[in-house]
Formats: sequence, structure tokens, C-alpha cells
Amino acid sequence: MRRDVDYRKYCEGIGQIQMAVFPQNEDIVTIGIDAAQKAISKIKDKNDIDLVMFATESTFDLSKSAAIYVHHFLGLKPNCRVFDIKQACYSGTAALQMAYSFIDTRTLNSNSKVLIIASDIVKYSPGTSGEPTQGGAAVAMIMSKNARTLLLEPFSGIYTCDIADFWRPAATNEAKFDGRLSAHNYLKSLEYSLKEYMYESGLTKTEIDYNCFHTPFCKMARKAAKQYFPYENIDKSLIYASLVGNSCSASLYLSLISLIDHSESDLSGKRIGMYSYGSGSVAEYFSGIVADEYKSVSFSDDNKKKITDRIEISFDKYETFCSPTPFNCKIEETSYKNIGNITLSEIKNGYRIYNLTTL
Ligand code: CAA
Repeated sequence: MRRDVDYRKYCEGIGQIQMAVFPQNEDIVTIGIDAAQKAISKIKDKNDIDLVMFATESTFDLSKSAAIYVHHFLGLKPNCRVFDIKQACYSGTAALQMAYSFIDTRTLNSNSKVLIIASDIVKYSPGTSGEPTQGGAAVAMIMSKNARTLLLEPFSGIYTCDIADFWRPAATNEAKFDGRLSAHNYLKSLEYSLKEYMYESGLTKTEIDYNCFHTPFCKMARKAAKQYFPYENIDKSLIYASLVGNSCSASLYLSLISLIDHSESDLSGKRIGMYSYGSGSVAEYFSGIVADEYKSVSFSDDNKKKITDRIEISFDKYETFCSPTPFNCKIEETSYKNIGNITLSEIKNGYRIYNLTTL
């Protein structure tokens, strides 16, 4: 109402029910670490992690990687490669595919693992058409030779083209975009990448049991499913996205988690088609087979609780969350239940200082 827009445009038109906003003591690093702590709790020895990649398009530091904070707070070994990866919402997939190649070449240490964190907080200028498609989330993944969630298949289709559909100038927090162009290119890139995937794999569409899509807003993924598969029933994979909004680099993987956490049928052995799109643009369609033990490494209850523990805030409060973070400030502590144990406590000369909290 405060934007003078019919709410049905948000719920029915773009398919969003809720959207995540973040207090100032949370950022891409804190939510990324929260996700990574859970992921590494499922491996025997964290010293097996030889590489950490942090995929994001909402970094606050154009030099130091967000991955270094993760490495520090997780207490990972020093002889570990650590860096960030950027290509809009595609960066999580870029990291995943790089990790796949990395693990494939590890012959000396077959236990070698890669930690990938895809983390984004998405902001558009208040009052723009992009505003209802904000959001954010982090997903952490571990790549190893013994996959326990999804066994990646060795074929994929890629489509890259130079286009001005979405960008974020370095000095700003908020993305600029051409919404219609981006939606058009999302679908066109799916057509081309899917075609190449089909050719490379020799598979037919009927051999793909489920699809997960990059989800800038739920209606976009539904349109893709309907146009290219053709079915619209991707509800289970969209439950989290409909509640948190766009999470850019994490979005496709949140869709997979949503499917896993909400599916009533056994997904073991099922082929999941995955469509990744990053404006600018790079798109990739690839697939994986769900591992037999996938339920033993899922955090279904925790994930659902993370969502239900959120609180609704007023529009006025939301607007305070939109203001840019100052260059020098102490950050107010908050007592929101779903915040992890690492929070942003201070910014000094633009440098972020994090604390282990006692919440
Ligand atoms: N009741 C029901 N439906 C309504 C309605 C109402 N009162 N008013 C409008 N609608 C419907 C429209 O008919 C339309 O539906 P269709 O798409 O099925 O025709 C839908 O709501 C959206 O309406 P508009 O196109 O008029 O909306 P808009 O101009 O405000 O733009 C948007 C919507 C393009 C999603 C905009 O929010 C936007 O630009 N978002 C940011 C960019 C983006 O997300 N692009 C997606 C592809 S890019 C990508 O994937 C990378 C990334 O993550 C950003």
C-alpha cells in the first residue's frame, strides 16, 4: 500500500509471498559463515578442505575476499586456497563447476574437499519495480569425490552473451537493471543452454525428473518451466524463494534445498536439471543425480526453523534497513532469533569487524 501498488501484483503477478531483509549486523559474510558452519559439521575432518570459494555479487570489499573471513571463523588450515568469484547470479555455479574440476584432478588426496559459499543480499532502490524482488540467503556446499547430496553429471550447456540487463556500479549498494530485457534474456539463455545440454548428454527431456531454476522471483521460474518443459508444477522447489525473495548466487541452490526439504517422495536416484542464470550474462544448464544418502546430510528442520524464526517488521523499520551502512560506525546488536553466532560489530575506515556473539 505504501508504494501504491495492488498487492496482487506481488503475490500473483511476480509470485512472491514474503521477502527477506537483513539488519545491519548481518551481511553476506555472517550469513555465509552460518551456512558453512552447518555444512562442515557433516564432514569428518575439516583439514580435508583445500579450497574455499565465496560466490557473491553483493560484496562490500573490492579487494579482500569474503572467503577469508569464512576461512578464519571456521578455523580452516592455512594451506588452503581462498578467494571470491563473481559473475552476477551465475557465480555459485561457476564455483561449483570449478570445484568439480579441482576435485577431479586430486589424485594424491582422495579426501580433498572444496567448500563453496554462495551468499547474496539483494537490494534495489526503494520505489523501483525491482524493489519487490529483493531478498537474500546463503547456501554452503561441499564438493568431494563421495557426493552425498547430488552427484554432478559431466555434461552441461552454456550460453554467454554481452547484454546490459543488470549491473551494480562499484560505488553503490543497489543494483541497476532493465527488468524486461533481463527476463527476456533469462528465457532465451535457457533455450540455448538447454539445447546444448541435450546435445552433449544425449538425454531427452523426459529423462529429467525434476527441474530447479535460478529464481529472481517465482513467476520467472514458473514461466521457464512452462515454456521449456512444459509443466508448471515446480512448487516444492519454490517454497523457500517465495519466502525469502531473490538470493542471486544462492538462488538455484536454495531451489534444490527447497525441493529436498519439501518433497514427499523419495528423490534417491532422480535426475535434477539445474538452470543457472547470471545477468550480463552467463547461463548454464546442467544436472545431477540425487545420492541415496541425501537425507542424512540435509538440514531440513533447521532450514524451516530459520524461516519460521524470522519476525515481520513494519514498513518504517524496513526503510531503516535500506539505508547504506556508514564508513565508520558501531553496529547495533539485535536479538533476532534466527541470527547466527557471528555478527558484524563495527566498521572502521570501511573495514568490517566481526564478533562471535553470545546470543
Ligand atoms: N494483479 C495480478 N497480476 C498483476 C497485477 C495485478 N494487480 N499487476 C501486474 N500484474 C502482473 C503482470 O501482468 C505481469 O505478469 P506477466 O509477467 O505474467 O505478464 C507481472 O505482474 C509483472 O508485471 P510488470 O511486468 O508490469 O512488472 P514490472 O514492470 O514492475 O516488472 C519485474 C517486474 C521485471 C520482475 C521487476 O520486478 C524487475 O525488474 N525485477 C528485477 C530484475 C529481475 O528480477 N529480472 C529477472 C531476470 S534477471 C535474473 O534472473 C538475474 C537476477 O537475479 C536479477
